[in-house]
Amino acid sequence: MWSSSAVASNRAVLLTLSLLQLTRGSPVVTSGVSNYSFPDDFIFGVSSAAFQIEGGWNEGGKGESIWDTYLHDHPTFTLDHNNGDVAADSYHHYMEDIEMIKSLGVQAYRMSISWTRILPNGTDNYINQEGVKYYRTMFEELLKANITPVVTLFHWDMPTPFMNFGGWTNAKVIDYFEDYARVAFKLYGDLVKMWLTINEPHENCESTYGLAVLAPALNSHGVGVYLCTHNSLLAHARVYRMYEKEFKPEQKGKVSIVLDSMWGEPKDPNNPEDVQAAENYLQMHLGMLAHPIFSEEGDYPPFVRERINNMSREQGYSRSRLPYFTDEEVKALRGSADFLGLNHYTTQLLSPSPMEPTWQVPSLYHDTGVKMEADPLWRMPGPDWLFVYPPGLRKLVNWVQNNYKIFKEIPIFITENGSSDFGGTEDYERVNYYNDYLYQLLLAIHEDGCNVKGYFSWSLMDDFEWTDGFTTKFGLFYVDFDSPNRTRTPKLSAYNYGNIVRTRRIDFDYIKRLKGLNTTKQEDSS
Ligand code: NOJ
Repeated sequence: MWSSSAVASNRAVLLTLSLLQLTRGSPVVTSGVSNYSFPDDFIFGVSSAAFQIEGGWNEGGKGESIWDTYLHDHPTFTLDHNNGDVAADSYHHYMEDIEMIKSLGVQAYRMSISWTRILPNGTDNYINQEGVKYYRTMFEELLKANITPVVTLFHWDMPTPFMNFGGWTNAKVIDYFEDYARVAFKLYGDLVKMWLTINEPHENCESTYGLAVLAPALNSHGVGVYLCTHNSLLAHARVYRMYEKEFKPEQKGKVSIVLDSMWGEPKDPNNPEDVQAAENYLQMHLGMLAHPIFSEEGDYPPFVRERINNMSREQGYSRSRLPYFTDEEVKALRGSADFLGLNHYTTQLLSPSPMEPTWQVPSLYHDTGVKMEADPLWRMPGPDWLFVYPPGLRKLVNWVQNNYKIFKEIPIFITENGSSDFGGTEDYERVNYYNDYLYQLLLAIHEDGCNVKGYFSWSLMDDFEWTDGFTTKFGLFYVDFDSPNRTRTPKLSAYNYGNIVRTRRIDFDYIKRLKGLNTTKQEDSS
C-alpha cells in the first residue's frame, strides 16, 4: 500500500515526467519514489570489458591484441597519450572488483574475455593455462558471491596476428573466432550460462574501418565497414549454431550478441521527411545488424539492401559494397539468439541530407543520408557525443519490440547504459542520468509492455575509454589512475544504483537525503 505522501510525490513524478514527454528539454530532477517497480525476475547488473580494465598486457603469458600493438606503435593516438598496459589493473585487483560488485547488490556481472589471454596467438594450437586460470577463478568467485557471470567473447581486442590480415574484413577470422569460442565454451561452459559473441559490431566496424577512431584506425570507409559487419554477423551465427549443437544440450546456456543504437528522433516530428530520415537511420545502423537475426524473413532489411546497392551503382561499382548472404547463411543467422543485448547511451535529431562536410564518400554515413545534430537543450556531461535524452531509451526499446515479433518470446537485456563525465566522486549528473533512464525503462516495461528482463550499467568503474584514454569517466566507482594500487572509491552513483537494485524502485531523493540536501524543493536541472 502507498502512503498518501508517497502517492502525492508519485503524482509529482508522473506529472514532471509527462511534461518531459511533451518537450525535448533536459530531464528534470524529480522528487519522490517511482510509482512502478522492477519485477522480481528483472536482472540488474554492471558491465566492463577486458581491455578497458584488466591491464597485465604482457603478464601471465598473454599475447598481444591490436590495442596493445597499435598504442605501443602510436603513443599519441589517445587523448592523454595513455595506453591500456595497466588500465585499472583488474588483472591483479579482481577480488576487489568482486567486492565492489557485491556492494551494489546486483545479480550479474558482464565482463569480457581477452582472446589473447587464453589463446596468445589467437589460434587454438596453444592454450595459455595461466590465462585460463585467471578467468576460471574470476567466474568461480563471482558464483560464490551469487553473481551470474555474463561473458562477452569479443569486446574489440582482436588478436594482432589476425589484424595483420584484415581482422573482421577477412572471412578467415570467422573460423578462428569459432575455434576460440569452442575453447571458451569447453573451458568455462560449466560456469558461464550467458554468452555474448560480439560487442557492438556496428560501432566496432564503423569506428575501426570507417571513421578510423578505433585501433588500428584503418581507412576503408564504405567498403571495409560492410565486410566487417557481414563477417561479424556470420561469425556470430557460426558460434551460435556451434554452441547449439555441441554444448547447449548439456550446458544449457544462452547465447546472443550485443547491438548498439542511439535513438533517432525526427528533428521536426511534424515533418514526414524528418520522420523518414529517423527511420532510415535506425534501419541502416540497428536494422542492418538486427534484421538478419531477429526478423522473420532474415537477411539485411530490404531498405538497407536497396539503398547500398543503388548508391554503389551510382558510384560506378559493378557490385554492391554490401556483400550478399547465401540462402544457408540467411537461415543460420535467422533466430540465432536467445535474447538481445542492447547498448544505448544517447539520442540525436535527424533530418535528410545528401552530403555533410564531415562525411567521406563512400561511407556508411553518406549511404544513410541523414544529418545528425543535438538539441541545444540536452545536457552533455562528458565528451561531445553523449547527450542526455532519457525518453530515447524507452523509444528505442519500443522500436525494437515493435519491429521484431520475436521479442514477444525472447527478452531484451540492456547490456550497457550510462553517462560520462570528467571525474570525481560527487557525480550528481550520473545519478540523474541513471534515475531518469531507468524510469523510462520502467515505463517501457509497465506502460508499453516491452519484454525487457535486465539492465547492466556501464560501467563498474572508470576505465580506459578507448581513444579518450583515461580522460572520460563512466564508472560507478572512481579509479585513481595515478596510484600504484589503482585505488577504487564508490561514487554517489554507486550508492544510488545500489539503492535502486535493492528496493527495485527509483528514489529520486535518495542521494539528496544521503548528502543532507533539501528534498522538498523541485529543481529544474536544465
Ligand atoms: C560502448 C562500448 O561497448 C564500451 O566499450 C564503451 O566504453 C562505451 N560504449 C562508452 O563509450
